[in-house]
Amino acid sequence: MRVPVDLGVYGEYLHYGMPLALVTVLEDDGSVNVTTIASITPLPGEPSRLVMGILAENYTSQLVEEQKEFVVNFITPEMRSIARACGSYSGKDANKMEICDLHPLPARYVKAPLLEECPLNIECQVEHVLKVDDLYLFVSKILVLEVAPELSDGRNGVQVDKLALLFYAFGHTFARGPMVGHGPI
Ligand SMILES: Cc1cc2nc3c(=O)[nH]c(=O)nc-3n(C[C@H](O)[C@H](O)[C@H](O)COP(=O)(O)O)c2cc1C
Repeated sequence: MRVPVDLGVYGEYLHYGMPLALVTVLEDDGSVNVTTIASITPLPGEPSRLVMGILAENYTSQLVEEQKEFVVNFITPEMRSIARACGSYSGKDANKMEICDLHPLPARYVKAPLLEECPLNIECQVEHVLKVDDLYLFVSKILVLEVAPELSDGRNGVQVDKLALLFYAFGHTFARGPMVGHGPI
């Protein structure tokens, strides 16, 4: 028999490996809130969509519900301390863009900015908001996936072998390992 894992103690183990993101969203006064989010899953089908899970207690859930748009900015291993800060303070109490010295870049389709420090960005528009207990699920259309010029392959693709993202798995952070196969499987 397999040994059950105590999710009361090891609930973070359900984050079994996902790239960590800084999500940017506008506040009412036009300033930017930025928050660390692991619970983002791309969805199959057309148009391209993702679902993002944010606890109701987090300011970001309120802002995304109001603004109906946001940007997912994937981070690199060097940005761990920034992820820690943006995942510890609330934008209700602190300006995390300033504290972390993050630099906004204009987005193509949404008002929230991309982050210059993050090499891969997704502009999103919220289509459905599901409230499950104290959790908001934002089912969102992907308006555009953008990559830093130095990581573009020059044919509207990404040099995936050079893309160094930070992964969150089992309550810890990991750099990417080597590619073990070309193609989907
Ligand atoms: C590694 C990491 C991953 C996180 N992932 C999520 C997540 O997926 N959903 C969520 O609601 N909060 C997540 N958090 C917690 C929020 O980032 C944290 O509560 C933050 O202070 C909320 O800020 P806000 O009030 O400005 O939205 C995560 C924190 C860390 C450090």
